[in-house]
Amino acid sequence: MVAAEGSDHSGLVPDSSMRSLAVEPALPMLAPVNVAGIPYRTIWPDPGGNAVGIIDQTLLPHRFSTTRLSSLAEVAHAIRAMLVRGAPLIGATAAYGLALGMRHDPSDIGLAAARALLLATRPTAVNLRWALARAQAAVAPLPPAQRAAAAWAEAGRIAEEDVALNRALGEHGCARLEQLARERAPGRRLEILTHCNAGWLATVDLGTALAPVYLAHNRGLPIHVWVDETRPRNQGASLTAWELGEHGVPHTLIADNAGGHLMQHGQVDAVIVGADRVAANGDVVNKVGTYLKALAAHDCGVPFFVAVPSPTIDWSITDGSGIPVEERGAREVTHIHGLDSRDQLVEVRISPPSTPAANPAFDLTPARLITALITERGICPATTNGLRALFPELAPLPPMASFNPELPS
Ligand code: MRU
Repeated sequence: MVAAEGSDHSGLVPDSSMRSLAVEPALPMLAPVNVAGIPYRTIWPDPGGNAVGIIDQTLLPHRFSTTRLSSLAEVAHAIRAMLVRGAPLIGATAAYGLALGMRHDPSDIGLAAARALLLATRPTAVNLRWALARAQAAVAPLPPAQRAAAAWAEAGRIAEEDVALNRALGEHGCARLEQLARERAPGRRLEILTHCNAGWLATVDLGTALAPVYLAHNRGLPIHVWVDETRPRNQGASLTAWELGEHGVPHTLIADNAGGHLMQHGQVDAVIVGADRVAANGDVVNKVGTYLKALAAHDCGVPFFVAVPSPTIDWSITDGSGIPVEERGAREVTHIHGLDSRDQLVEVRISPPSTPAANPAFDLTPARLITALITERGICPATTNGLRALFPELAPLPPMASFNPELPS
């Protein structure tokens, strides 16, 4: 599968050698997102159904290294330790994990245990629950002997659908960016600000928040992205900056605190972020810090868009207050990772040894601060009715009390 020369799938590949790596483009050429000129996806199945390949995102941007996950336990670890991360990719990876679990124990007890193990890996992104429910529904009615193959096929469908959803979402978002560009002074490039990584690396391919950006860039729209560093794990600095750079999209890294200043000074035309879970009323939970960007955008009159494929919508909750926010380890706050002057990956402490730290990994952006949601079916207001108009078959029915048979539906 996708193999890097000089990499044994678990070893490190020096950053300086990336551009000369011989990599095998074994995946469909649909993707416009390239690494060293080669189209990649973030997850790919072994032909025999024994394993999936992934990019170890904990090593980016310093090392590009792929690795194979061949058991349920390895998949659970990869999600928990964030070798793979980002709501849609977590979902697709978990579906493959369930299939690998079925190879080992396809009984009803094995199925329930595999689902429970994967479900516990990360609590916030609802795509995990969605993908596992889908995989379970596909295999539970089958005899155990057929479950592993059926789960593998379902995981493949979930992965392919993710790409299709992002492409459709990207088209709608790109059209909105083109409209914004027409409204701006001629000759001026479009300035986008994004938080965390909701790009190609957070999905199977293309990304959510960055899909409109990639499409606009590919079509020749002059565009530039302000990339929030996204403390504490720095997904912006390490992942978004890396993937935009690989694809040649102009971008500039900024400290998280700089966004408000840029917006006050007319240097941001729109903010686009992804989402880990969206409530039925349009409230959005995304990487911590998203809320502060939405407040600043609201104050400055900058449009604030959230890119949301439908598997990220949790129709079972009416607002975002009940969405569980993952609390991660304090070490992510008290320490940072990077390359030292000898190109060695090192971790350094930035606070006194005894300083306690809190690390809520996500925050809630109320729907009232969101200009619009960009979905695969179009762009809608962040409201119950806005989402219901696009997804009538998925949205819960209005409460009976408001049902009036005299009125046209
Ligand atoms: O903790 P992470 O890196 O998994 O968080 C990722 C994000 O918050 C993304 O913005 C979100 O998953 C949307 S990805 C398309």
